[in-house]
Amino acid sequence: MKKDKVKAVILAAGKGTRMKSDLPKVLHPIYSKPLLGYVLDAVSSTGLIDESVVVVGHGAEEVEKFVTEYTDDAKCVLQSPQRGTGDAVAKAKDILADFKGTVLVICGDTPLIEAETLIDFITTHKNNGSALTVMSAIFDNPTNYGRIVRNPDNSLKCITEEKDASPQVKQIKEINAGIYCLEKELIFPLFNELKCNNAQGEYYLTDIIAASIEKGLKADAYILKNNEEIFGINSKINLAEATKILNKRTNLKLMTEGVTIVDPETSYISPETTIGKDTTIFPNVYISGKNTIGSHCKIGPFAHIRDGAQIGDNVRIGNFVEVKKSVIKSNTNVSHLSYIGDSELGEHVNIGAGTITANYDPVLKTKTKTIIKDGANTGSNSVLVAPVTMHENSMCAAGSVITKDVEANALALTRSPLRVFQDWVTARLNRGKSGEK
Ligand code: UD1
Ligand code: CA
Repeated sequence: MKKDKVKAVILAAGKGTRMKSDLPKVLHPIYSKPLLGYVLDAVSSTGLIDESVVVVGHGAEEVEKFVTEYTDDAKCVLQSPQRGTGDAVAKAKDILADFKGTVLVICGDTPLIEAETLIDFITTHKNNGSALTVMSAIFDNPTNYGRIVRNPDNSLKCITEEKDASPQVKQIKEINAGIYCLEKELIFPLFNELKCNNAQGEYYLTDIIAASIEKGLKADAYILKNNEEIFGINSKINLAEATKILNKRTNLKLMTEGVTIVDPETSYISPETTIGKDTTIFPNVYISGKNTIGSHCKIGPFAHIRDGAQIGDNVRIGNFVEVKKSVIKSNTNVSHLSYIGDSELGEHVNIGAGTITANYDPVLKTKTKTIIKDGANTGSNSVLVAPVTMHENSMCAAGSVITKDVEANALALTRSPLRVFQDWVTARLNRGKSGEK
């Protein structure tokens, strides 16, 4: 292990009882990405951390599966039973046995933390030469958080949990954000001394503060500037609130970069979507996953872009259109009521209202591709049964079901011939009156 890099320990073993869910808390998604994914991304985006240890417990198998698939830079360690945050960090001891240096401890349920903040936090810790730094924040309503208790000279004394706090301590508005930097060699030995004689009968990580001060080690608090970043998810209500906060942050950033968002309140855009300037997002648009959208596009109202969309410039994605895992090149229109999935659309393509790419074979459970080349047009209400290609400037007529490739400049039509019965309505009426069928 490299000595100069920082390691992270991510706490994700807790039960998350208040989520009232079968899904482990840290796997609840915001825009299809689990909460833990946000924390892993923030940690790796610092560029300072080369390895994370995720402490798993409740729903361990599922969480470990996610971590393994999500990143190569994290390992999981099991905490069973879950005996508190102090016990959880201690579980990382063996994996970090050879490591000498700084360990960042962070909870897996704080998806709004930003890499820049973590960088500043770690750098401050190192520059101060502290053995331990705890991130704190000043909250108007500090209820339920651990309180930062200071000495008269303002130096750190200890952290007291809400459940163990006296009425005086409960008045303190500086809270423990639950993110720490620890010098491993100095602090980890103290975990052996933790006791669980507190209101919850748990080994509190927070007791490490008093323990290290007692040993004469340097412990400091780093006061967070933007309290939103440590918003923790404990319930479905918090999950919705975090989504709102994240969305507001993303939309403000996009607008600063020149994207027009008509109603930021109703346009949900995942932070992993990039959008070019002068693109307009109309109300009630939902964009999740990783996508790129070019400049001068018009998206929505009521459009759904699901993941893996690569959309060029000057593209129109209109109302009630769903796009998934598709390339749509510049100057192409998908204006109304369509589904475009696993497809490649060239330039200057026009997709008629109600066109569907039928990409899924429910028997073989496979997905196949639809390719629509430059200048091709689909008639309204046509179904393109993948795998299928419509070549350059080809057309299909309204209501057609396209099951074979269509050559360049050709028209494909599967419509049954139109038959018109003169005076049919009058005849039907007369028959009805005489009792005939
Ligand atoms: C903890 C802090 C509190 C702080 C708050 C910030 C302690 C004792 N208290 O309280 O001072 O203000 O976070 O949000 O640390 N976990 C495990 N194993 C366990 C218990 C918890 O991995 O045995 C994980 C949880 O999954 C969670 C994190 O640790 O990600 C925090 O646990 P939680 O029970 O939510 O602690 P709080 O009561 O919020
Ligand atoms: Ca918590």
